[in-house]
Amino acid sequence: MKVTVVGAGGNVGSTVALTVAQRDFAKEVIMVDIERKENDKTFYPSKGRALDQWESAPVHGFDTKLTGTVDYKDTRDSDICVITAGVPRKPGMSRDDLLEINANIVKQVTGQLVKYSPDTIIIVVSNPLDVMTYVAYEESGLDSSKVMGMAGILDTARYRAFLAEELEVSPKDIQALLMGGHGDTMVPLPRYTTVAGIPVTQLIDEQKLDAIVERTKKGGGEIVGLMGTSAWYAPGAAAAQMVEAILLDQNRIFPCCAWLTGQYGIEDLYVGVPVKLGHGGIKQILEVDLNKKESELLDESAASVRSVLEDFKKLMNK
Ligand code: NAI
Ligand code: 2OP
Repeated sequence: MKVTVVGAGGNVGSTVALTVAQRDFAKEVIMVDIERKENDKTFYPSKGRALDQWESAPVHGFDTKLTGTVDYKDTRDSDICVITAGVPRKPGMSRDDLLEINANIVKQVTGQLVKYSPDTIIIVVSNPLDVMTYVAYEESGLDSSKVMGMAGILDTARYRAFLAEELEVSPKDIQALLMGGHGDTMVPLPRYTTVAGIPVTQLIDEQKLDAIVERTKKGGGEIVGLMGTSAWYAPGAAAAQMVEAILLDQNRIFPCCAWLTGQYGIEDLYVGVPVKLGHGGIKQILEVDLNKKESELLDESAASVRSVLEDFKKLMNK
């Protein structure tokens, strides 16, 4: 099985590549990035990171071959392509500030990927996530089951990590669901959060839970504030988990950014919902019951994604 990661000379992409390689289920990972010129010198970040990571194979004990390249011919016949190419957030920037730059990058990258792998599955990571996933969908011409975005696994992981810390339990025992766009309007769902099957609402008081929900919504910004750029370990691990679920046909249920055609009353929009991931990509979009408040929050979040999508369409003169 062949996995391509574009933007792999950067932080998220290289983490996706290494995590996939360490799990050892793929035959090869192709790491694509562009050249960087500095003081008359040319650097090849994805070639450098691929070589460094491949040199760790004997120590980690994996066989998956990592190869860095700037040539899309090397991506031919990829089963899955992960797009992390783009510009990350800097302090004071929202994900939406990245719209125009990253839309052009994702468009160009997607065109190259489907040229050499017309049947591939695409996982988008670049921000603003929900709209960049739409850009890849539109540009690729692939079925919507094969084009999806990664955000929900990351956002849920943050929520689970914060809860684990507060409750002094293992993060492994926390199961949770979160929906909506990848932004401050995302909707963590305490009613669908359990600790080893026990509803979380029985274990934590409302105020503390509300504070954790708020911290989750701003989780990306918290890291930007600490590091001056956005996160990569958790995002990279989350995207690798999607790759694994699809390639190994695991039928895992994850919140992912998926194309909605009326589910939850939302039409023609990419937004985060629970899906079943396995061979072929998204096998099913799950429709869970939402109460009035939860539905309103999801609608608000979808409206916020739609307004960025409208901005994108204006920018592209559509
Ligand atoms: P980074 O700057 O470390 O890496 C981005 C890489 O993309 C760079 O190596 C750059 O050379 C490359 N690139 C730029 N234009 C390209 C092109 N035309 N073709 C191929 N490669 C190209 O940034 P980082 O931190 O890895 O973030 C990548 C993206 O992922 C950003 O848009 C960021 O906002 C997004 N992100 C999304 C998350 C999510 O939950 N969906 C979480 C974390 C980051
Ligand atoms: C994150 O949530 C910035 O989307 C990125 O970390």
